Amino acid sequence: MTDLANPLRRSLPVLDPAAVPGAPSGLPAFEPLDARLAEYRPEVRSLPSFFVWTLGCQMNRSDSEEMAGRLVAAGATEAATMEAADLVVINTCAIRELAEAKVIGRQGHLQRLKAANPSLRVVLTGCAVRERDRDGLEHRYPAVDLFLRPDQEPELVDRLGLASAQAPVGAVGATTVVGRTVVGVADHLAATRAAAVAGGAVARGSATSAWLPIIYGCDKTCTYCIVPFSRGPERSRPFDEIVEEARTIAASGFREVTLLGQNVNSYGHDLPPEPRFGHIATERWAGRRLDLGSRPDLAELIRAIDGLRAADGAPAIPRLRFITSHPWDLSDRLIEAMAECPSMCEALHLPVQSGDDEVLRRMGRQYTTEHYLERLARIREAIPGITVSTDIIVGFCGETEVQFERTLRFLEAVRYDQVFAAAYSERPGTPATRLADDVPAADKRRRLNALLALQEPIGLERNREWLGREVEVLVDAVARERSHDHDAAPAQAPAQAPAIVGEGSRADEPRGVRPRPGEVALSGRTRGNKLVHLAGGADWIGRLVRVRIEHAGPYALRGVAIG
Ligand code: SAH
Ligand code: SF4
Ligand code: F3S
Repeated sequence: MTDLANPLRRSLPVLDPAAVPGAPSGLPAFEPLDARLAEYRPEVRSLPSFFVWTLGCQMNRSDSEEMAGRLVAAGATEAATMEAADLVVINTCAIRELAEAKVIGRQGHLQRLKAANPSLRVVLTGCAVRERDRDGLEHRYPAVDLFLRPDQEPELVDRLGLASAQAPVGAVGATTVVGRTVVGVADHLAATRAAAVAGGAVARGSATSAWLPIIYGCDKTCTYCIVPFSRGPERSRPFDEIVEEARTIAASGFREVTLLGQNVNSYGHDLPPEPRFGHIATERWAGRRLDLGSRPDLAELIRAIDGLRAADGAPAIPRLRFITSHPWDLSDRLIEAMAECPSMCEALHLPVQSGDDEVLRRMGRQYTTEHYLERLARIREAIPGITVSTDIIVGFCGETEVQFERTLRFLEAVRYDQVFAAAYSERPGTPATRLADDVPAADKRRRLNALLALQEPIGLERNREWLGREVEVLVDAVARERSHDHDAAPAQAPAQAPAIVGEGSRADEPRGVRPRPGEVALSGRTRGNKLVHLAGGADWIGRLVRVRIEHAGPYALRGVAIG
């Protein structure tokens, strides 16, 4: 059943064309002198002020920037709070039950806001909107007027009836649903993204660092994971469009770009072969075999973006990152490109999930710990000193105490700079629901705490290696007061990283930056993605500053600017 066939949903999404009581009156009255011109009378309506509430990973944050940009391009304004908005867009995450529960828990509040402001509309999008669960959505989210799957987000402005001939949001082709299968959206997101970028309709949240989506969806079959069900199959954006967006980003003065995808390493396999990529003759050699010949890959993309140069020959974008990498197709070509491109930052987030091969097999990860360690050794050899972080799931179905201990030993052996760990949370419809979720909650919690307790001194030792050294810091924030908002992942946390209990507050350590008169407390990132606190001018945001590291904590460094 298509959602358009649902009479309830047909009437709801369109915002009232009438002016909102008490709101500014919109366009001035237009009274044509010639009655025949009446039909050209501009439509009088007040555009909503909107608030986007974003949960989840960088992919969601990037998508929210695009939705906000489309709304602004259509003439809407951004409200400072949810309570002040006429339109609330909720960009959901479904990676764990808790992420969905947070939004379900706010339904009552939203319904009260709607009672106070009858013109308020609520749109829910992101990973909680899955076609196969569509029927249950209205029950779970009773305050919501319109549900959009992630691939339908470009339709937001149209579906709300806000599109105008002037709005540079690009052509929007509606998606089609046959039964419960989404048809005809293969190139949809990629094409509309390019139109949004070309029309300036991406409201980037930072003037320093930009997200750049390169591939949507996920073709992997990790048995615990909801993402392939939420985001659909892999769709790579065309090579030239990405390079063009990078060029636009460089011209706008951004200092850093993060290429985004659920698995950026498989970028390009679904694009048509082209003679200019004839030198890329590799086949994927681990996991499902794929012919990658004559198609662009991530290595090629990195080299092309790194190849955008300023007049002095330096990379036009000084810092390039990507996230997330699946270990299964981390190719030698990619490692070489990472080592050879000066803009490529010396940091890699490489989720391992477990240090036990039997658990990895049950997770459907398609690699062994041996394969993972071989890739890691290769990377560390090619890029000495590279910062490496990972994701771990504890308490997956059937994980024994001995198997969990293997994960601890694995962390000791690898000595990650940072570990993002979470307890397994069963997700409806995923293959792992056929296995018993048999590790008791108390054991999951204990294992999580044990893992974090093991990692903390390792992270501290890793950070101490930087004491006394001079590093380049990209200043990106004036330090906030200690935050207790655990919704807010620390800036630049790995894509989709599970929030660690307490991470929000501990990420602020070490405090103790003492700004002199005229200075403020700032924070920024090294090329290795280490958080650094320092004192300096409020106008340093967006600058690359030389800093000597004087203090190291387990989650951050502190230093002084030099020169
Ligand atoms: N595409 C990335 C990760 C995406 S999800 C990759 O494959 O590496 C981000 C992280 O959330 C995962 O790395 C995993 O550690 C965690 N995660 C995913 N599903 C989960 C679940 N059902 N329960 C607990 N953690 C989960
Ligand atoms: Fe895809 Fe990552 Fe989920 Fe695996 S964990 S299915 S690679 S998003
Ligand atoms: Fe979706 Fe990202 Fe969450 S892909 S499920 S928003 S972690």
